[in-house]
Amino acid sequence: MRREDFPILDSGIIYFDNAATTHKPLQVIEAVREFYMRHNSNVHRGIHRLSREASELYEEAHEVLARFINARACEVVFTHNTTDAINMVAIGWALPRLRPGDNVVTTVMEHHSNILPWKFVCELKGAELRYVDVNEEGLPSPEQLEELVDRNTKLVAVSGMSNVTGAIPEVREFIKVAHDNGAVILVDGAQMVPHMPVNVKELDVDFLAFSGHKMLGPTGTGVLYGKEELLEEMLPPKPGGGTITDVTLEGVEWAPLPWRHEGGTPNIAGAVGLAEAAKYLMNVGMERVREHEKELVAKALKVLDEVGAIVYGPRDVDRRGGIATFNFKGLEPHMVGALLDARKIAVRTGLHCAHPLHRRIKARNGTVRASFYLYNTLKEIEAFKEALEEISKLV
Ligand SMILES: Cc1ncc(COP(=O)(O)O)c(C=O)c1O
Repeated sequence: MRREDFPILDSGIIYFDNAATTHKPLQVIEAVREFYMRHNSNVHRGIHRLSREASELYEEAHEVLARFINARACEVVFTHNTTDAINMVAIGWALPRLRPGDNVVTTVMEHHSNILPWKFVCELKGAELRYVDVNEEGLPSPEQLEELVDRNTKLVAVSGMSNVTGAIPEVREFIKVAHDNGAVILVDGAQMVPHMPVNVKELDVDFLAFSGHKMLGPTGTGVLYGKEELLEEMLPPKPGGGTITDVTLEGVEWAPLPWRHEGGTPNIAGAVGLAEAAKYLMNVGMERVREHEKELVAKALKVLDEVGAIVYGPRDVDRRGGIATFNFKGLEPHMVGALLDARKIAVRTGLHCAHPLHRRIKARNGTVRASFYLYNTLKEIEAFKEALEEISKLV
């Protein structure tokens, strides 16, 4: 990893808004440019040279992403983002299966993208949506999970890392409890996959959703991983061009995986860029990414304590990703964000698409979130400290 790979950082901005989206290295920008300059064409439809090249690059991108999470290429469905991926499972897998009396279990800590799709299908089918509560540190309770998941649970949906507190729940425990009860599990990996090693086979997760744009890839890219048998039984949630091998007026023969779940012309250039992003991260090594972020967040938490901020989320960095979330008593989060922006430090403020969690942690006006990635440095945390020392004097 070289800072010079990220030209946007040349302006001197300290970018701590990586949980929202990350910057793109030159290698990704160049791969997208190269695609448009030399290979642009639609996929799977033409026999001409450019179309063959575009198709090869697009298929290769599935293979790279499969390698990134230890899946098979047929189990990697490209989506627009995490939200899209979760909605596809809700519509294509859960909706046809849910019956009155069934339930779906999620948690209070979820991003709205891992609540609303389940709420939508549960309401349509007269099923119940249950929420595992979180403790004071924002971690879901394994005991309550055991109580809520039962033989009527069709699906359990949990985030691999909270986008608000950085809390890392016991994902393996969620997977075990879901499977012990005959339920399917979806992990929202939006904050997990970009920041730690993830091996879907070893985890034995059924569905995993994540966003390309949060892991150095282009915007408008994401992945739905599903075990082959589950993707086979899932109804194509976006039927249309590219999803079939044959259509008659009476019926349809679906295309092989993963194409049947990728309706319409995909984001081909985005996929090529995402593959380059995954290669970049594999070259760095996901263990190193995780270790670096642990170091940054440990230092950031110390700084926040020193300046007297209210800190949210787990204190143990083994249970926390590279996210430091806080408030100053008596200062609105947006005011803190604006004051940091004036010092060239970009953080996110507000409710971070997680209103239930903010109610639960008693931060109804929102929080200030500094979220880190592989290009952030301890020196930047020093600058953050100086800025916070000044701001804390306003309280
Ligand atoms: C935990 C989590 N889930 C889902 C999402 C939604 O991601 P996207 O906007 O890429 O669909 C986010 C985005 O911040 C997130 O942090």
